Parts: sequence; C-alpha cells; structure tokens
Amino acid sequence: MRPPSAAERHVRSSCFLLLLFLTWLAMTSAFPIPLNLMKRSGERLPWGPHRQIQASATTHRRLTSSLNTRILAENASVWNTLDGSPPLVIARGGSSGLFPDQTSAAYLFAATFSLPSSAMYCDLQLTKDGYGICRTGIDLGVSTTINYTFPGLISNYNVNGVLTEGFFSIDLTALQVLNNISATQPYLARSPSFDGLFDILQPTDLVDLASLASNTTLFWINVEFPTFFAQHKLDMSSYILSLMVDMPVDFISSPEITFLKAVKTGAPKNTPNLVLKFGAADDVEPSTNLTYGAILKDLKTIASYASGILVPKDYIWPVDNTGYLGAETKLVKDAHTAGLAVYASSFVNDPATPIYNYSFDPVREYLQYVPINGTDVDGFLTDFPTTASEALACFRGATPLVRKEGTKPFIISHNGDSGNYPGCTLLSYQSAVSGGASHIDCPIQMTQDGVPICRESPNLAPNTDVSTHSNLSSRISLIPQLQDAKGIFSINLTWAEIKTLKALMYSPGGDIDRNPAYTQESIITLSEFLSYAKNTSAGILIDIQNGYFLEMEVGLDVVGEVLRSLNASGLSVSDRVVIQSEDSSVLRRFQQLANYTLVFKVTDTNVLVTKTEVSDVKALANYVTLPRGLVQVANSGYLLNKTDIVDLFHAQNVSVFVSFLRNEFVTIPFDYEADPTLEIDTLIRSYQVDGLVTDFPATASNYLSNSCSNLKTQATTGLQYEIHEVKPGDLVTNLRPRIPAAPPAPTIRLNVSDGELALPPTFSPRPSPTAETPARTPSSSPSAAPRWLKPNIFLLSTAFVTSVIYHYHG
Ligand SMILES: *[C@@H]1O[C@H](CO)[C@@H](O)[C@H](O)[C@H]1NC(C)=O
Ligand SMILES: *[C@@H]1O[C@H](CO)[C@@H](O)[C@H](O)[C@H]1NC(C)=O
Ligand SMILES: *[C@@H]1O[C@H](CO)[C@@H](O)[C@H](O)[C@H]1NC(C)=O
Ligand SMILES: *[C@@H]1O[C@H](CO)[C@@H](O)[C@H](O)[C@H]1NC(C)=O
Ligand SMILES: *[C@@H]1O[C@H](CO)[C@@H](O)[C@H](O)[C@H]1NC(C)=O
Ligand SMILES: *[C@@H]1O[C@H](CO)[C@@H](O)[C@H](O)[C@H]1NC(C)=O
Ligand SMILES: *[C@@H]1O[C@H](CO)[C@@H](O)[C@H](O)[C@H]1NC(C)=O
Ligand SMILES: *[C@@H]1O[C@H](CO)[C@@H](O)[C@H](O)[C@H]1NC(C)=O
Ligand SMILES: *[C@@H]1O[C@H](CO)[C@@H](O)[C@H](O)[C@H]1NC(C)=O
Ligand SMILES: *[C@@H]1O[C@H](CO)[C@@H](O)[C@H](O)[C@H]1NC(C)=O
Ligand SMILES: *[C@@H]1O[C@H](CO)[C@@H](O)[C@H](O)[C@H]1NC(C)=O
Ligand SMILES: *[C@@H]1O[C@H](CO)[C@@H](O)[C@H](O)[C@H]1NC(C)=O
Repeated sequence: MRPPSAAERHVRSSCFLLLLFLTWLAMTSAFPIPLNLMKRSGERLPWGPHRQIQASATTHRRLTSSLNTRILAENASVWNTLDGSPPLVIARGGSSGLFPDQTSAAYLFAATFSLPSSAMYCDLQLTKDGYGICRTGIDLGVSTTINYTFPGLISNYNVNGVLTEGFFSIDLTALQVLNNISATQPYLARSPSFDGLFDILQPTDLVDLASLASNTTLFWINVEFPTFFAQHKLDMSSYILSLMVDMPVDFISSPEITFLKAVKTGAPKNTPNLVLKFGAADDVEPSTNLTYGAILKDLKTIASYASGILVPKDYIWPVDNTGYLGAETKLVKDAHTAGLAVYASSFVNDPATPIYNYSFDPVREYLQYVPINGTDVDGFLTDFPTTASEALACFRGATPLVRKEGTKPFIISHNGDSGNYPGCTLLSYQSAVSGGASHIDCPIQMTQDGVPICRESPNLAPNTDVSTHSNLSSRISLIPQLQDAKGIFSINLTWAEIKTLKALMYSPGGDIDRNPAYTQESIITLSEFLSYAKNTSAGILIDIQNGYFLEMEVGLDVVGEVLRSLNASGLSVSDRVVIQSEDSSVLRRFQQLANYTLVFKVTDTNVLVTKTEVSDVKALANYVTLPRGLVQVANSGYLLNKTDIVDLFHAQNVSVFVSFLRNEFVTIPFDYEADPTLEIDTLIRSYQVDGLVTDFPATASNYLSNSCSNLKTQATTGLQYEIHEVKPGDLVTNLRPRIPAAPPAPTIRLNVSDGELALPPTFSPRPSPTAETPARTPSSSPSAAPRWLKPNIFLLSTAFVTSVIYHYHG
C-alpha cells in the first residue's frame, strides 16, 4: 500500500471536517455524532508522523498548546492547585463511561460536554509498521473486535517480565487496525450496545474531533509500554517527538522513568508537561526495577525529569476494608512543595466497590479532592469527564440553599435516608432531615394487633433480622395479594414481637451493597415517627400501602389507626401532613374524614395515561406520584422519547412527584452516565417535576444548591459551565446502538379506582399495647357492603381524643 501524499491527506481530511461541520450545524440541539463519523466508508489510510509534514499543510487548527491560555484565563484565587488554575479534567479515552473508549463518540461527547480546556487522553500503542493508535491495555482482544476478524493473530509475548496471551498491535499493520477492527466496551457493567460501531482512532484524529466541540481542548498522550515496544524495535520516544510536530501534545505520561527522561532530552524548548504515572505501590517500575512506593519517597528526583505525577486516587485518600475513607495522606502537599503537579486517577461513576462516605454520589468524591481550605489536586483522570466538570464548576464551595417551607421541587425521602442507613429508622429520618429533605415519609405497615409501623415493605424478611429469630420462622406465609414469593409479613406478627427485631440495610441493587455497618437500629411505630417528625420543620408523608387489602380482607383498619395516631400526636390539623396511597378507596375515605393533602401513587409503569385518567386522579388527590419508569421510558437501558405525562398532569394543575431515585442506578438509563445529578437535573429542569422521592435526599438537596443551574445564579467557582442536559432519545436516535426495537407503547389505561369498593368506615380503637388481649382474628371474607352507620362514631372518638389531649396539656 502506497502511503498517501500530504496533499492527498489534506484533501481527504478537509472533506471529512467539512462534512462533520455541516452535520454539526444541522443538529445543533442534539448530541451531534453523525453516523458517518462512526464508521467511515471506504478505506482509511493511516496518518503517521514519521512522514513529517509541513505545519501549513495540515488542517489542524493550531499546533501550539492552549495550556497557557487556560491558566491565564481562569481566576486563580479560589483554587489551591500547584499553579492556581482549576484542576484539569482529563477524559480517559473521552467519555469512556458511556461509549467504548477512545472512539469518535467518546471524544466528541467529552469535548462537547466537559469544561473548556479539558484534556483528551489517548493510550498510545504502535502497529508493526510504526503508526500510532489509541488503545488501552496491551491485549487488543479486550477492547476491540479483533478476535472475530483475525482470530489467528492471538499470541504470547513477555510484557514487562510477564508472559501475556492476547492480540498485540505489534502483529498488525495500521491498515488492518483502521479498516478491519473496531472498538468494544471492555467493562461488563457498561453498555455493549455500541460494540463494533466505532473505528479505532489514531492520536491525530483527536484533534479533528475535539476541535468540533471546543477550540481549547488539550491533548494528553499516555505511553504505557515503552520497554515492550522497544523490545520489538519500535521506539516510542522518537514517535512521540515526531507526533508533537503533527499535533499539539500538552501532556505526555508514562509509567516508565527512562522513557520520560528520553522525551525530556529530545523534546524542543516548548516541552509539554511530562508526568510519571504510578501503578500500585508495590508494582515494579520496569525501567528501574524499583517499586512505585519506593520511587514516591523521592519527589525531588521525580521533579528533575517530570512536571507532575499521575497517581491512583487512594494514594491521596486511602480506603479501609469497611468501605470508609481513612486519613488523607500528605502527598498532594508534599508534591506541591517539590514543584510537582498531582493528577489523581481511577475516577468512575460506577465503581465495583463503593466508598460509603460518598453516598454513591460521584460529585461528592471529586469534591473530597478539592477542599476549599486544604490542598487541591491538579487534575482528575476520569471515565466520566462531564461529572468531574459539573463537580468542579457547579458544586465546589456552593452554599447550601435555604429553602422556604413549601417551596417546590419537594425532596421527599423514601424510607428516610435509606441509601445510607437502614430504612425507616430514627437514624435514617434524622439523616434525611439534616440532609435537606423537605418531607420525610413513613410507609405504613400494620402489625397483627393493629399497630401501624413504618417499614419499607409488608414483608419483614429483606430489611430486618427476622430470619435470625428461629422462634418466628413458623410465621412464613404466602400472601399473593402482597407479593408473589413467601415472606414473613408484619400482619402475622404482633407489635411485641416486631419490637424485638432490628432494622437492617436493604440494598435494592443486586451486586451493589449499601453500607451494612448499622445493625442495632430499632423498628419504630407511626406514633414514634410522628413525635420525631413533629419536632422538625419537615413535611410528613404517610404512605398507606395495601390499605384496601388490609381493610377489606384482613380486617385491619389502617385508615382509622393512621388518623388516630395523627390526632394523638397533635398533627390532626397540620398542613405539613400529606397522605399517599395507591388505593383510590383509601384516599376517598380520607377525603370524607379529614382535611389532609392527598397523593395518589401510581405503581404500574406499563399503563397509558391520558387526560381522562388525569381527571380521575384529580378527583381524588392534589398530587400524583409516578414511578420514574412511567416518566422516563427506556429501551435496553437507553432513554426513548421524552414523555408528556408530566405536562398532562400539570395541564390540570396536579403536581407530580417522581419515585424512586437511587444514586447507585439499580435500573439504568445509560444516558445519565450513572450520575445522579444528571437525572435529577433532567427531571427538574426538563420535565419540571414538583417533587423527587429519593433514597438519597441529600443528593437532591445538594443539587438544588448548585451554582450552575438557573435555580441559583451566583457562580462561586469562577468556571463557566452548564450541566449537560440529557435529552431523552438523543443517543438512540443519533447513534443507533445495537438494541432490539422498542416494545410497543402501552395501550392499557391507568385504572385509578381499580374496581375498589368504598371502604367500610369502621373505627374501633385498638386495645392498648400493654393489655393482654389476644391478637385480632383477621376477618376471612372481604366485607363487600360498606357499613354506613359508623362515621359519626369515628368523628366522636377523634374529637374525644383531641379534647383529652388539649385538656391534659392546657
Ligand atoms: C477572582 O475572584 C475573586 C474572588 O472571587 C474576585 O474578587 C475577583 O474579581 C476575580 N478576578 C477575576 C479577574 O475574575
Ligand atoms: C475469541 O472468541 C472465541 C469465540 O468466538 C472465544 O471462544 C475465545 O475465548 C475468544 N478469545 C479471546 C482471547 O477473547
Ligand atoms: C480489511 O479491510 C479491507 C478494506 O476494507 C478489506 O479489503 C479486507 O478484506 C479486510 N480484511 C479482513 C480480513 O476483513
Ligand atoms: C473555533 O475557532 C474558530 C476560529 O476562531 C471559530 O470559527 C469556531 O467557531 C470555534 N469553534 C468553537 C466550537 O468554539
Ligand atoms: C530488572 O530486573 C530484571 C530481572 O530481575 C533484569 O533482567 C533487568 O536487567 C533489571 N533491569 C534493570 C534496569 O535493573
Ligand atoms: C468516612 O465515614 C466514616 C464513618 O462515618 C467517618 O468515621 C470518617 O471520618 C469519614 N471520613 C471522611 C474523610 O469524611
Ligand atoms: C475555611 O477556613 C475559613 C477561615 O479559616 C473558615 O472560616 C471556614 O469555615 C473554613 N471552611 C471549611 C469548609 O473548612
Ligand atoms: C423469640 O426469641 C427471642 C430471642 O431470640 C426472644 O427475645 C423472644 O422473646 C422470643 N419470642 C417469642 C414469641 O417467643
Ligand atoms: C398471615 O396473615 C394472613 C392474612 O391474615 C393469613 O391468611 C395467613 O394465614 C397468616 N399466616 C400465618 C403464618 O399466620
Ligand atoms: C424536640 O426538640 C427539642 C429542641 O430541639 C428537644 O429538646 C426535644 O427533646 C425534642 N423532642 C423530641 C420528642 O424529640
Ligand atoms: C381544609 O383546609 C383548608 C385549608 O387548609 C381550609 O380552607 C378548609 O376550610 C378546611 N376544611 C375543613 C373541612 O376543615
Ligand atoms: C417524541 O414525542 C413528541 C411529542 O411528545 C413527538 O412529537 C415526536 O414525534 C416524538 N418523536 C419520536 C422519535 O417518537
């Protein structure tokens, strides 16, 4: 194959850029990755620096680094980095958390939605004919389709002393890499839907891509295996030196000292930043045979050949074996004293093992490394550069927003702060209140003897230690009205029995464990909840679960008991109390008997909602709670079109809450990049929902304090940034991931009353818990006929209770 002349490449590249620009202009609102950018048609020819070209003959917008403009442009006063500029966001292979890394989509997305002057990071490898390509890991089998195209090329090489099996770039020509293999997603937890859709790139391709998005993008080349390539007669340092003629290279990093020294010696005066990349402390540096731990002890020597170090984040904030942060090391401070910048690596939004101090919120993790008063790291190497950008620009130093009571959007806890503490315990409610929840919730379950308690589910097994109480194992039963599987249900245990149990952490996310540290928290009754809640300024949401079943089939008067507890706590006339139920009959009964704000809870995600159903809801309740799956419809993990369901409710003045938000994204849309801030932002800014029901109220509350959104205009970080607006349908429409066709939209309409009869308006005060009365025998047959005679008795008895309380206190 004849290499193309400089003129040929110029023409080809100009056409390519022009095409991209036109497509960009045509799609200003959507994320603009044209399909033809993913897989270019026709043969791709390699672009190589060893055929040196005149700077004027290239289409590159510039050949000098924009690093200096970056430093001068920003306000230095607020950052305690080495040079006072804001920490650098380094996109590891672009937005590699969302797309296969080091592809056009990943780089263009990162450059478009990250802070200006972010760096695009390429892991450089060389082909056997000496061309550079961007791929991470010496085995190309991990991140490409090579196993399918060239299965015979699998081989074994000694890589830094370790015999390694795989597919190696040194066995492939550049033409093969560019034309016959494509990128795949190496991480199982991330979406494989883009596998095979994107070409492998060369370092010079980054410049074209990044310049589409931002003129200030920086370029960071990491050379991971210089010794290995040298052993195969491929000299990385001379490649890098000639690459610097072809494109701006702002940072060069490597885990190998000898390589960095060679680049420093050979590079021209405007040497880019040279950065020593650290492996684990006991890994051996291949060119000196010293461990990285030993090398780190001598920062002065490092400063003689490098301007900075790139270290795994636990070099700065170590983590103990219970998932908590230990004490901060002095590395950043010491390195700054030695004149070295510190870049921290391995930031992801989807870690395999959580660090509990961050509450599964990646924004909090970034902020840990840029304290207002301490020493700040100089950069973050991250798979999710948009999250790093928003943390730096919108959340650092943001002052907590003090919101007036009743201000929307509400932040409604789900089982208290159940993301961090065992749900529905005093600890979880206290944490929800101090974290900024506007409302705390008690999901009502009933005991066999009629005591309303706050519990996450009617089945006690998943969230208490009931299974360790062998004397209660006989209570296991199957109650199909409550759930499909067997369980130990609160309605089969008395309060005296339930009181002996401890609440436990419940992790909805399968493999992802929430913090198991708290095992001694008590289960509380509704009355205990109310006496705590009354003393706070938070709103109180009482969620009556399975009320119709309990009233009609079990014979437990949950409505009556809730009203009784509210009266007894003195909250009977409080406008802070909100009653929620999924049963229309329960809400109707409240409409008749009391004057609380009512919320209808929709539980089904596969129903059609039109104006008619909205009217049905409006007749019952002031607010509606919708599951997030009904608001944000996804297919195979990608958001489809934006729904109009929130608008439909708003058109009839019904406020909308969305449930449940969970930081660890147990049900994904990938579009949100496992970043809870992006989902909250989308629900609040694009959907304009009136409340979020969340396991992590503090994350929602922190969001409201951010200094970027129009909810609060004053910028505190000196950085210009807008939180990336996720547009449902963008990725699916523009990039066509390989996913099955979307299932048809639901045609079955939401049935608000669901055939429920009116509840029998009984009210029988339960026996005092101390009395030795036998447990109430549940009535076996549903009482179909409402008993209309009793409401007055109810009203009388509440009046009586109330007057007793007032009398007593007065
Ligand atoms: C830099 O920030 C400080 C404090 O926020 C402010 O007083 C000053 O005006 C800023 N300077 C520039 C050049 O923006
Ligand atoms: C290559 O693919 C085959 C099946 O297609 C599989 O059995 C094999 O494990 C793969 N090899 C590697 C190195 O991924
Ligand atoms: C590699 O790509 C070239 C150019 O598209 C094509 O002609 C050739 O057949 C491909 N080889 C393989 C093994 O797929
Ligand atoms: C980049 O700079 C060029 C020339 O100064 C300008 O025309 C273009 O709009 C800029 N692009 C972006 C994305 O800022
Ligand atoms: C490092 O150790 C290996 C084997 O122990 C040896 O072959 C190599 O020469 C050493 N390299 C240096 C630079 O000392
Ligand atoms: C992390 O959480 C643990 C447990 O709450 C606490 O003891 C520790 O101080 C926290 N560490 C930091 C750095 O906040
Ligand atoms: C930072 O230091 C100032 C003054 O020393 C102090 O008032 C402030 O509370 C500190 N902020 C934090 C977050 O520690
Ligand atoms: C069940 O056993 C626990 C101790 O494991 C005891 O405290 C409790 O009283 C027993 N309950 C009954 C109903 O026997
Ligand atoms: C639990 O309660 C339900 C409903 O009252 C009843 O049908 C079932 O038999 C009870 N199970 C046990 C084990 O007591
Ligand atoms: C209510 O708050 C006051 C002051 O914060 C406190 O002294 C009191 O113990 C609290 N009462 C309850 C029941 O928590
Ligand atoms: C219900 O509350 C509203 C406002 O809080 C009040 O205007 C209305 O009179 C109350 N109705 C009853 C029946 O108490
Ligand atoms: C998305 O929804 C809007 C209105 O809700 C509709 O006009 C548009 O055609 C839909 N787009 C697709 C691709 O379904």
